Amino acid sequence: MNTDHNSNFPVVITIAIDGFAGTGKSSTAKAVAGILGFTYVDTGAMYRAITMYLLDHKIPLIDKSDELRAALNQVDLRFRPCDEGTSRCICINGVNAEPAIREQRITASVSQVAALTDVRHKLVEQQRAIGRTGGIVMDGRDIGTYVFPEAELKIFMTASVEVRARRRQAELRTKGIEVSLQDILINLETRDRIDSGREMAPLAQAQDAVVIDSTDLSFEEQVSAVVFLAKQKLAHIQ
Ligand code: CDP
Repeated sequence: MNTDHNSNFPVVITIAIDGFAGTGKSSTAKAVAGILGFTYVDTGAMYRAITMYLLDHKIPLIDKSDELRAALNQVDLRFRPCDEGTSRCICINGVNAEPAIREQRITASVSQVAALTDVRHKLVEQQRAIGRTGGIVMDGRDIGTYVFPEAELKIFMTASVEVRARRRQAELRTKGIEVSLQDILINLETRDRIDSGREMAPLAQAQDAVVIDSTDLSFEEQVSAVVFLAKQKLAHIQ
């Protein structure tokens, strides 16, 4: 916790939002950060960006290999303001990587890349540096368990896989991308399995996380639930 920040509160906290694929973590985290005046950090975008770089440069996905390590040393990831000004986009070596990192070819390989320990070491170090000052809402798979185990508020989001697939299909449609429900469903289940089963920092619910099952919640209800919990924490700390 520290007080050197732009938030709407005299003190700040770290909010970690983890959970299964397609549970709406990113959109929830972004909205919560906007309401609280905190910084939103999309760690999934970082794993997607690394995946895009490795695929585009045809780097074999072999952990601890010289080729992988050399490639990772060449990648500089940064969040920069983009388009409308309020949102921040991930840039790979200075070039905006949105929306390309959301394409299916990246989605299909990202969990394999995220299981590489060299990749995780690099990104976790950067995530800890970004979040050092607090006042952040960071979403991912290992934020409450590994990146910021001391986070004041930890949320674990879940929802039925059918609802997640339908929501993801609708979200992709708004971007003009058509993917069958069956393909999305298989991808969500495959990613959850790889993410939960990997050796380093697997997807897991932190013991002290509050579980939000969004199966029957609207987006607004989901956001309100997290904001309510965050305000409770902030009131307690002040
Ligand atoms: O938004 P969606 O649920 O599709 O996933 P994402 O947040 O964009 O994350 C994409 C992938 O990155 C996940 O399936 C994980 O394999 C990986 N990831 C991770 O391993 N650790 C994180 N902290 C965030 C994402």
